[in-house]
Amino acid sequence: MQGSPAYLSGLLLQDRDVLVVGGGAVAQRRIPRLLHVGARVRVVAPQITDILREHAIRGHLRWEEREFRDQDLDGAWYVIAATDSPATNALVASGSEVRRTFCVRADAADLGSAWTPATADVDDLTVAVVGRRDPRRSRTVREAVVKALASTPSDDEFPPGTVVLVGGGPGDPGLMTSAGLAAIRGADVIIHDRLGPVELLAEAREGAEILNVGKVPHGPFTPQEEINRLLIDRARQHLRVVRLKGGDNYVFGRGGEEWLECAEAGVPVRVIPGVTSAVAVPALAGIPVTHRTLSQGFCVVGGHVPPGHERSDVNWQALATSGLTLVILMGVKNLTEIADELMKGGLSPQTPAAVIVEGTTDRQSSLRSTLASVGREASAAGVRPPAIIVVGAVAALELDHTAPNGYPSATAHAETVPDPMRTTTMGPLTAGTGRRV
Ligand SMILES: C[S@@+](CC[C@H](N)C(=O)[O-])C[C@H]1O[C@@H](n2cnc3c(N)ncnc32)[C@H](O)[C@@H]1O
Repeated sequence: MQGSPAYLSGLLLQDRDVLVVGGGAVAQRRIPRLLHVGARVRVVAPQITDILREHAIRGHLRWEEREFRDQDLDGAWYVIAATDSPATNALVASGSEVRRTFCVRADAADLGSAWTPATADVDDLTVAVVGRRDPRRSRTVREAVVKALASTPSDDEFPPGTVVLVGGGPGDPGLMTSAGLAAIRGADVIIHDRLGPVELLAEAREGAEILNVGKVPHGPFTPQEEINRLLIDRARQHLRVVRLKGGDNYVFGRGGEEWLECAEAGVPVRVIPGVTSAVAVPALAGIPVTHRTLSQGFCVVGGHVPPGHERSDVNWQALATSGLTLVILMGVKNLTEIADELMKGGLSPQTPAAVIVEGTTDRQSSLRSTLASVGREASAAGVRPPAIIVVGAVAALELDHTAPNGYPSATAHAETVPDPMRTTTMGPLTAGTGRRV
């Protein structure tokens, strides 16, 4: 049999006895799949891993706590020899051979009568790849097949004539969800903005219509009514329409309005949430928006209208007393006025403040300051949107995850080092490595 390719067959093991001899790491890797397909799994081994023990306690499998005996093979439809003793595995394989039961030998694939494939389920398909000698290659091929199959949504998931509001995340293409990427790949029309992972438009299928309706600050833009009209028009042409926004469509993305417009026009509309910049951008600049003992919550607020303006309905002075981390979007232009208003409301001028520009992209830069100085410093540094401003004790933290040696470093950008920084187990505080504006 050595050197011959395997004959692939789909075994239906539901309610059929499968014997696994050995209870170590290999058995632990193989058994979940057997349980998944409904096999009655019996494990014979003097010891088993904690996870297998948990399965046994929950009744998912039967464990016989002893060494292997030849009679254990009686009645088994399929056998896995996975002990760390080649002699025992050989006994299991030879006993199986006599009974004409297929047996996988974990220690010496060629000496068994079956091979374990690299397997995955995609919708109603099972993908199984068997390599002759190289399990890593089988796994790589499996991943490639799964990716190809999963990359385009079915008509059920994304029917023609539907609009899908896709949140693209804050800019780094890796922060787009897999559901969002699948929708992009399946779309006939993509209506997108300037922010977000525009690189991923390259994933659109050939011939897809791609419309940029992004608004350049103080520059030309497509009115919202026109965007709504485009969404509805293309859906009525029986096309699959993706409305791609940066971050999450429902966070200052007018996603709710677009949803209502589509619904009112009788166009089916779905939502694939995105990773909002309000959380991801501070995170990748080393700022957790909540942190035990520093902040029990955070408030995401738009700073595009200055405090006191007739169109402003934000009570900045109330926010100043809230005790929450403030995450301000679209606030660059009004930063000094916002900071003044927060100080008027009672926030200390020494409250840490951070500005992060083009977060999550390779152009990311940041500035650390205090509420009293942040407006002046941001303007001196020439900060331009898109930027996120974080105000509150957490804005003094810089939990750097990019250190080249792999060791995290923590920096506190404040005179009063917050307590958690003192008690951190990460070692001494070091200078952060992030670029500065
Ligand atoms: C109209 S809002 C859209 C927010 C988006 N829907 C979200 O959930 O992230 C645009 C603002 O989000 C912030 N923003 C979005 N992406 C950003 C990024 N990569 N870096 C910094 N700020 C960003 C900026 O404050 C920008 O002015």
